[in-house]
Amino acid sequence: MKGLILCGGKGTRLNPITYSIPKQLIPIGNKPLIAYTIELLLQSGIEEIGILVNDYNKAVFQQVLDTYFDKKFHYLVQEEPKGIAHGLLFAEEFINGERFIMVLGDNSFDFDLKGFVQDFKTSEKNAKILLKEVENPERFGVAYIGDNRIIDLEEKPKTAFSNWAITGLYGFDKNIFKASKEIQPSKRGEYEITDAIKWLLQNGYDIGYEKLSGKWRDVGEPNDVIEENIDKLSNIEDHIEGEVVNSNISGRMILKEGSAIYNSIIRGPVVIGENTIIKNSYIGPYTSIGNRVKIEMSNLENSIILGSCNIWGVEHPIDSSIIGEGSVIRGNKGMKKTHRLVVGRNSRVYL
Ligand code: TTP
Repeated sequence: MKGLILCGGKGTRLNPITYSIPKQLIPIGNKPLIAYTIELLLQSGIEEIGILVNDYNKAVFQQVLDTYFDKKFHYLVQEEPKGIAHGLLFAEEFINGERFIMVLGDNSFDFDLKGFVQDFKTSEKNAKILLKEVENPERFGVAYIGDNRIIDLEEKPKTAFSNWAITGLYGFDKNIFKASKEIQPSKRGEYEITDAIKWLLQNGYDIGYEKLSGKWRDVGEPNDVIEENIDKLSNIEDHIEGEVVNSNISGRMILKEGSAIYNSIIRGPVVIGENTIIKNSYIGPYTSIGNRVKIEMSNLENSIILGSCNIWGVEHPIDSSIIGEGSVIRGNKGMKKTHRLVVGRNSRVYL
């Protein structure tokens, strides 16, 4: 079976980070979010993977994924982000009438996909959805189950009468293309995948489901990114290639080649990339720091710092933050206590 990963959206809720990097490529534990999904598909025996992108982010996906995987992927372009059911139509030729697994590129799953794939491969069902019991179903597409069957589906209901959210992992046969062509845009103007699956249901096609007991996260907002980083860093193992001088390290840490820590306190789990320098600083748990970053006389935890950032003299802890590539953050040590900001469109500053 083939796999299809959808990355063609706008990612507006993660602006301004997504002005410079698609959300599916945001590093979580210094590895692009989508890389975890690709590994999940490969481990479940899915070898041929299509990645649906935009015209303007295709090159960056290719460049980043070429450095992570020896494998080549098929890049398919969605002309305009008009919804998930619209996006998958751009993969019709690639799928070529076969049964396939589709995953939303901003979703994260911690489960063994093999069983789901094997079951769908050999089943007679036209589609299979993966459900997760959640406390806030109104944020998602919701499935209603009766007599062990899916009886209805609703996209982001005002009041949900079921706690079973439809996660972003599906098995489909070719009929999903027919359904996606039949439906109309929703109130928010998108061709919804929930409506396409509902069309299948209403037209006599057979929809199966599996209840997920493992973890699932829809990484759509800044807080989801931070939470995802916490989960991924919870599983790291010590791996020190760089230099540690006169510093106090506790907890697990990954420190890559060319990086150095001087006169600092590190409380893991912490991941630090290549050629990064940390001096006279405190780095607290669940922090991921990219390549070529400089941190001096500063205090941070539970955050993601992308490559080439420069953080100096920030005494009050930076916490639960995502700092985009090449950002400069300077404290006002010894100077008048003011806030001086040079921030771009849609930036968020919490002082
Ligand atoms: P969403 O999170 O629903 O949309 P988005 O990525 O545009 O983000 P935002 O709401 O913050 O603007 O998308 C879920 C996944 O589906 C994501 O990986 C992108 C993908 N997608 C497409 O491939 N094509 C589309 O037209 C849309 C809307 C989403």
